[in-house]
Amino acid sequence: MRLPGKTVVITGAARGIGRACAVRAAEEGADLVLVDVDGEAADVPYRLGNSAQLETTAELCRKNGASVLTRLADVRDLGRLQEVAADTLDRFGQVDALISNAGIGAPAGKAADGFTEVEWQVLLDVNLSGPWRAIKAFAPDMVRRGSGSIVNVASTAGLVGYRHFAGYVASKHGVVGLTKAAALDYAPSGVRVNALCPGPVRDDPEMEGQMTAVVADALGITYAEQEAVYLESVPTNVLVDPADVAGAAVWLAGDDSRRVTGTVITVDSGFAAK
Ligand SMILES: NC(=O)c1ccc[n+]([C@@H]2O[C@H](COP(=O)([O-])OP(=O)(O)OC[C@H]3O[C@@H](n4cnc5c(N)ncnc54)[C@H](O)[C@@H]3O)[C@@H](O)[C@H]2O)c1
Repeated sequence: MRLPGKTVVITGAARGIGRACAVRAAEEGADLVLVDVDGEAADVPYRLGNSAQLETTAELCRKNGASVLTRLADVRDLGRLQEVAADTLDRFGQVDALISNAGIGAPAGKAADGFTEVEWQVLLDVNLSGPWRAIKAFAPDMVRRGSGSIVNVASTAGLVGYRHFAGYVASKHGVVGLTKAAALDYAPSGVRVNALCPGPVRDDPEMEGQMTAVVADALGITYAEQEAVYLESVPTNVLVDPADVAGAAVWLAGDDSRRVTGTVITVDSGFAAK
């Protein structure tokens, strides 16, 4: 097993890639702290994961033998994340890995000048400042113990542009920058920081993920049309599954990647190779 006895915190764990990471981490022997919001979040124009979905993720993990703590928290609320960090230490004594996965795909669907201030800010606040706040809440324990792994879920939108997604693209490029800078900050303390850049991921119904549907909605096309666009964009002609991202996240979280820090790993069916 890759994560025996480790405590792994995952944000955005109610559904999608976050749920896939949680289930895989449980299979690999981890105990889990699963964090998400409850459906609504201010200024986000679509329904997010909810507490029932978070409990479903927790149950799937418990079936694999994991001890699980669930907490509702918006990654825009530093105080709440610090409470979750304190609860984590009370329950498990330490934090071995943080997978900062919570993110939003909209507002989008217009040229850069078409975003309002509020629309622009919410993308940066959740997608970029969220992972920074999670570092602020969870890194101190890792630094104190001289060990830990932080995995920031960015996107291929952190490497290249996507038309009509300026806020999302800017936020994910920011996550890549945050990852590299934080890796240097914490290298002397034995804490690693890496980014994952998933490419076109299909919304696996078992994981209840919504991101590709959200992207299709923002562009005013159907889910099937969006999948067709995605398929055309990847050399392998196969979309990425949330489980594929989870496999990479678990490797980065665990000791097999102990000499890997400050790097950016694509899981994108070859999208970014072109
Ligand atoms: N699906 C893709 O094609 C794709 C591609 C590249 C990167 N990503 C990234 O992967 C991550 C997960 O995406 P997904 O496809 O599973 O999407 P999703 O919408 O299915 O799941 C995202 C989860 O994050 C949670 N979340 C959103 N805002 C939050 C907040 N403020 N506080 C706490 N939780 C919050 C949601 O409630 C939801 O459960 C995101 O960061 C996304 O940008 C996704």
